[in-house]
Amino acid sequence: MKIAFIIGTRPEIIKMSPLIDEVDKRGIDYILIHTGQHYDFEMSQQFFMDLELKEPDYNIGVGSDSHGKQTAVMMEGIEEVLLSEKPDIVLVQGDTNAVLAGALVAAKLHIAVGHVEAGLRSYDKTMPEEINRMVADVCTNLFFVPTEETAINLLFEGISPEDIFITGNTVVDACHRNLKIASKSSHIMSELKLEGDILSLTLHRAENVDDRERLENIVEALLNIQGLTIVFPVHPRTVKTLKKFGMYSQLEKAPHIRMIKPIGYLDFLILESNSKLLVTDSGGIQEEAITLDVPCLTLRYNTERPETVHAGGNILVGSNTEKITSNIARILADDSLYQQMKKAPNPYGDGTASEQMVDAIQDAFNQGKLEIKPPEKIAGGQMKKLLIVDEQVTVAEFEEKNPDCTINIVFDGVNPKFPHSNLSIHGKTIMISQSCAADF
Ligand code: UD1
Ligand code: UDP
Repeated sequence: MKIAFIIGTRPEIIKMSPLIDEVDKRGIDYILIHTGQHYDFEMSQQFFMDLELKEPDYNIGVGSDSHGKQTAVMMEGIEEVLLSEKPDIVLVQGDTNAVLAGALVAAKLHIAVGHVEAGLRSYDKTMPEEINRMVADVCTNLFFVPTEETAINLLFEGISPEDIFITGNTVVDACHRNLKIASKSSHIMSELKLEGDILSLTLHRAENVDDRERLENIVEALLNIQGLTIVFPVHPRTVKTLKKFGMYSQLEKAPHIRMIKPIGYLDFLILESNSKLLVTDSGGIQEEAITLDVPCLTLRYNTERPETVHAGGNILVGSNTEKITSNIARILADDSLYQQMKKAPNPYGDGTASEQMVDAIQDAFNQGKLEIKPPEKIAGGQMKKLLIVDEQVTVAEFEEKNPDCTINIVFDGVNPKFPHSNLSIHGKTIMISQSCAADF
């Protein structure tokens, strides 16, 4: 079996790294295709060094451009590599343009696609990431989802439960593995020479930093924050727009704000762990915050990581100046709220996501499920039905008795549930797909 990993940006390198390590450890043949979307040393190469990854086998060198051009160049480059390398499966991670390009090209070449972090939805189509993850999921064969909540998004889109693997998020695997290494090798705290409590900030999402009004509101909030030192490793996109809108020097001059270049993963893990609060619009940092027990405020109006909010570790504050400052003041003034946020249970698993994913990929390969073929059976399609089950059976027992049926979703009172094979469905409503024989 040969696996092709597609990566393009900082978070993809970090979150794919435990999976790459696992594949490497099992002696499976693999190639790394870097699209080159992130290319500065501190946005790309730094992470290969921190995470001890091999150099990419291919770098498409796409660089920065409009979404259309960037995606087109990536697709052309990825297609050429896949045609010559002929992998059995292409793995993409998250929701960047690399995911869109990689999944689309592989699906058109009838190569199986595994989407790591599939099924996340913000239900906000103004976000480029939402379009990327939705299109990628149309092309995906194996869906690796972090939580049951995410799996349910896919069930409602008609994805078959047998193609969904609830594994947790590889962000936890990466945190667990690298925190110990980081605590020995990182000197970031002594280098920064900070006193008092730290608020670590990241900001880069297009909807915040490319919009003058939103950025102005966030900057105003940052200038008003009291009682904390703000450490702000600034993403290159944000440097560009802060300068363009004339806001960079205001922040730079503020005595309580430390603007620094983006830092490596090991240093960032140490900075996060030593922070009183994390304020961010990043996806990955919302997950890392709850993994590292640091309360998080998210500078967004919606999140595709609602589990962090439901668990109590994350508060959405949008780009509203008053909401940002008042929530920070509230959390700092109320220790029981602070402790409650700190202790929010981590919904993203136990750090074994990458092992579970590689197990699933190997099983699928051994069962011939990575060969993408047209359906062999002549079928009249599928009918969806709702049924109330009055027998004492589990999902697996029901499907064994009714071989033409698949249980898609189980409704337990008001809550939709994933149809785990050992789940008892007695007295519950189930939605099934039933294959219909073709009528000739
Ligand atoms: C991309 C992803 C976003 C992800 C983020 C991770 C898409 C649509 N967006 O956003 O989902 O959260 O990566 O950080 O795929 N630039 C540099 N050096 C670099 C890279 C970028 O200077 O190494 C500057 C360029 O001016 C570029 C701008 O940053 O135009 C934006 O980069 P781009 O890759 O388009 O999007 P990100 O904002 O990084
Ligand atoms: N990160 C880092 N250095 C920094 C800022 C972030 O190593 O200066 C890491 C962080 O630990 C997380 C990832 O980058 O794992 C998040 O990436 P980003 O916020 O760029 O993208 P998103 O998760 O929003 O797609």
